[in-house]
Amino acid sequence: MRDWSDKFLNRFHMDAEIIVKAPGRINIIGEHTDYNLGFVLPAAIDRGIFFACAESEDTLIEVFAEDFEESVKFLADIKSPGDGKSWMKYIRAIIVQLNLRGHYTKSFKCIFGGDIPQGGGMSSSAALCCGLIFTLNELNDWQLTRKQIALIAQAAEHSIGIKCGIMDQYASLFGKKGQVMLLDCRTLETQHFPMELGNYTLFLINSQQTHEFATENEYNVRRSSCEKVAGILGLKSLRDADESMLEQHKDEIDPESFKRALYVIEENKRVLSLVGALRDGNLDLVGSILKSAQEGMKNLYQITTPEIDFLADFINNYPGALGARMMGGGFGGCTINMVLNEVFDQCIDEVISSYKNKFGRDAEIYLLHLEDGVNVV
Ligand code: GLA
Repeated sequence: MRDWSDKFLNRFHMDAEIIVKAPGRINIIGEHTDYNLGFVLPAAIDRGIFFACAESEDTLIEVFAEDFEESVKFLADIKSPGDGKSWMKYIRAIIVQLNLRGHYTKSFKCIFGGDIPQGGGMSSSAALCCGLIFTLNELNDWQLTRKQIALIAQAAEHSIGIKCGIMDQYASLFGKKGQVMLLDCRTLETQHFPMELGNYTLFLINSQQTHEFATENEYNVRRSSCEKVAGILGLKSLRDADESMLEQHKDEIDPESFKRALYVIEENKRVLSLVGALRDGNLDLVGSILKSAQEGMKNLYQITTPEIDFLADFINNYPGALGARMMGGGFGGCTINMVLNEVFDQCIDEVISSYKNKFGRDAEIYLLHLEDGVNVV
């Protein structure tokens, strides 16, 4: 990656020792099931973050974010992520988590940047955390496994208040070219298989709506409401719950938490049904599962927005579309869509202009290529 060695050289007047690419992810199905220890079906994609890095002579760590044209400098023995822009907190949180585990990095200089739209629900934060830890693992020769890197990356997010599951880190680290990955979030076992969609195109529509702070708060609220219901059912997680158990305890559960738990139980089953439908080549069933996932996120888990509902409904009612649903944590970001190749051009023209008319925003379309996970380039 000449480009990134040049950027590093121009900024720091020395050669980069290592260049790493960490991909963003999509998720075919399974939202908010990961922290309930259920199943998810993500894949790494061709959009990602590049890191160019080298050991530095001075005692400071210096990281430059090319996309923001800003840098942070700090001593390696920090104890907390501190304040500031969210990318800066992520960088410091990673060093803190590595220190806590006895992985004390050499001083280094690093420049990073990429093409994962921020707030698009494509996990730019997991790519940032997994990519930087992977880079430092190479630089320091710590021999951390990908699983260890995923767990440290997740701990970094938790330490700055985002109680995420493990899907994004696993997708970014364990993705395989052309394949989706069924991840069991309890055992962390993965199964990869090709995504064969015949005459259909898989793509994202970015609503260009981001609600960073609302999302974090609402996300954590949903997580704790799931944990509360699991406790009432006498379970460690909603992974082991079913509809009849929920019904039995209905009186002890507030109506909102009841709906949320029902969503999680149904969504977890949808993941396995969709995997079965893909294996059987039953694309109509794939489409109807996507539609019911969208309904569940809208009515039960209540994490969609009018913008997202408009985009998903537009595709779900479009002749030649298989299905669409919101993707990621919620409250904006992207929808994931499957539409017949022959109507694709027409369909995206119409959805972009209808969305612009209704909400005054320019939706963006991303075609998807499934790629390998984080690696040295
Ligand atoms: C975010 C989190 C993930 C997952 C999704 C929703 O991307 O980081 O752990 O919970 O939301 O499926």
